[in-house]
Amino acid sequence: MESVIVAIDGPSGTGKSSTSKAVAAKLGLSYLDTGAQYRAITWWMISNGVDVTDADAVANAAGKPVIVSGTDPSRPTITVDGVDASGPIRTEEVTSRVSAVSAVPEVRALITELQRSIARGAEAGIVVEGRDIGTTVLPDADLKVFLTASPEARAARRSGELKGADVRATQEALVKRDAADSSRKTSPLAKADDAVEVDTTELTLDQVIECVVTLVEEHSAEA
Ligand code: DC
Repeated sequence: MESVIVAIDGPSGTGKSSTSKAVAAKLGLSYLDTGAQYRAITWWMISNGVDVTDADAVANAAGKPVIVSGTDPSRPTITVDGVDASGPIRTEEVTSRVSAVSAVPEVRALITELQRSIARGAEAGIVVEGRDIGTTVLPDADLKVFLTASPEARAARRSGELKGADVRATQEALVKRDAADSSRKTSPLAKADDAVEVDTTELTLDQVIECVVTLVEEHSAEA
């Protein structure tokens, strides 16, 4: 298959990460979790005493941490200043603050540049998942997919991942984070005009993976 760039966007709990990793593994492509990068910079800000509600302070510190993403879909890694951040970036504290940090334009400019250089370096092609990949980071991607699901389905999936977390509280937190991510001024969560929308509410993970693999193969056959 020719080198192919696939952008997968959508809100949390739509199966974006599991789908993106599995599609990349099946097709021999690299994989990039851009949410992990925003989480990593947020973790660094919290760990270094930066007030994440102060956009100027966040903007001033944005260039300091060195974030490195591993792109093997079977073993995605992320380090901050050489330290493995894969555990700490999933804490509740980071999850509740990442929308504020990722709304700061200086943060987005730096992380977007990092994402583009990783995508350029992926010789066999790459699956990049996030919120603004099809609209802003890689507007020339070969295939753009926008995953959706009902808030109930998304909350149920997330609370399953969080092992027994309260579904209602999870749904409230998720809806709040999506609202913040969708309403920010710089590069909000949005479906690109040329993205294929896949509603995953009634689909199993395997069905979503199959659907996206088929879309990539159809694209490659046409190209
Ligand atoms: O996919 P995730 O839940 O790990 O993403 C964490 C946060 O990062 C999400 O609330 C919004 C932000 N994000 C973003 O602004 N742009 C992206 N391309 C990916 C994530």
